[in-house]
Amino acid sequence: RRVLKRALTEGGRGREYRVAFITVIPSRFSCTIGQWDSDEPVTRQELLKGIAGAHGLYCMLTDKIDEEILQAAGPNLKIISTLSVGFDHLSLDEIKKRGIRVGYTPDVLTAATAELTVALLLATSRRLMEAVEEVKNGGWSAWKPLWLCGFGLQESTVGIVGLGRIGLAIAERLKPFGVKRFLYTGRQPRPEPAAKVQAEYVPLNTLASQSDFIILSCSFTPDTQGMCNKDFFAKMKKTAILINSSRGAVVNQEDLYQALTTGQIAAAGMDVTVPEPLPTNHPLLSLKNCVVLPHIGSATYATRNAMSVLAANNLLAGLKGEPMPSELKM
Ligand code: NDP
Ligand code: DGY
Repeated sequence: RRVLKRALTEGGRGREYRVAFITVIPSRFSCTIGQWDSDEPVTRQELLKGIAGAHGLYCMLTDKIDEEILQAAGPNLKIISTLSVGFDHLSLDEIKKRGIRVGYTPDVLTAATAELTVALLLATSRRLMEAVEEVKNGGWSAWKPLWLCGFGLQESTVGIVGLGRIGLAIAERLKPFGVKRFLYTGRQPRPEPAAKVQAEYVPLNTLASQSDFIILSCSFTPDTQGMCNKDFFAKMKKTAILINSSRGAVVNQEDLYQALTTGQIAAAGMDVTVPEPLPTNHPLLSLKNCVVLPHIGSATYATRNAMSVLAANNLLAGLKGEPMPSELKM
């Protein structure tokens, strides 16, 4: 929040701002700023109240910006700046209809998210959480030939669903582990990024049946919603591992639970779930072969700093009617 405040202060030529719901008087470019002053998400009620009459909104992926919010904002609202690269929490049809511009935070979080995805893959495939638990609970009796064996990346086939910025960065980080083949899928072939890691474009079914590790790094859309369901799991190898750092709803979690408990697939690692937070009594959390993280893909200090600054600069540029550093093409 301090970084955000500094970014807005610097961007606003020395003026002091607070952030979130911003009203601008264009002639002098001074702002009245209402801030939700907590690390917890703003309540819907506060957001509805605070946004009335605002020209700009600085929001998080936890804020669902739908027709109700846009109505509450009224016709002044012209800029939405989200502290995320994902924009599935924004009702783009409604936003577009009102001529509102959107800023987001691509690129600055790619490395951190790719790194976390690799960490999650390794933690899941080499059973790190189980292993740590065994050390603590006395289950470690001796070195044993088959105890806590997992699956390695050497000579493996890795399938990437969505070879975008993050998908490519994941593949680049996995390549040195000795991966033999990269497969990828998406709405169309992406020859340029694919060439960087010699990835082959294949249909989703082929990716499901031939991969040892499947990584979901696509955006969440009506087409990707529930993409990994029981049909998908039925096609996967029994020894295969699914990793999701995209959005929780790309995976049908009931079907995933079935696949994990019936031995249809070996394991899963999820940085994203439905809902978030996942209730502590959720069935997936009872499984040793499922590693769940609390949506921390981009959670490094440097990355969250960079995201905050970019989102603030997007907002300021938008308010001034200038091109944003990262504006979403709608
Ligand atoms: P990009 O836009 O660069 O990549 C999105 C990818 O999704 C593209 O490769 C696109 O491929 C693919 N895609 C879209 N529709 C489909 C489809 N129907 N089937 C298969 N693939 C599809 O975005 P980023 O790489 O920057 O980010 C990707 C997503 O990662 C974000 O939208 C966000 O949800 C998530 N994310 C999660 C984080 C975390 O903390 N876990 C952190 C940051 C991002 P094509 O266009 O060829 O179809
Ligand atoms: C995003 O940016 O979409 C992530 O989910 C959080 O960084």
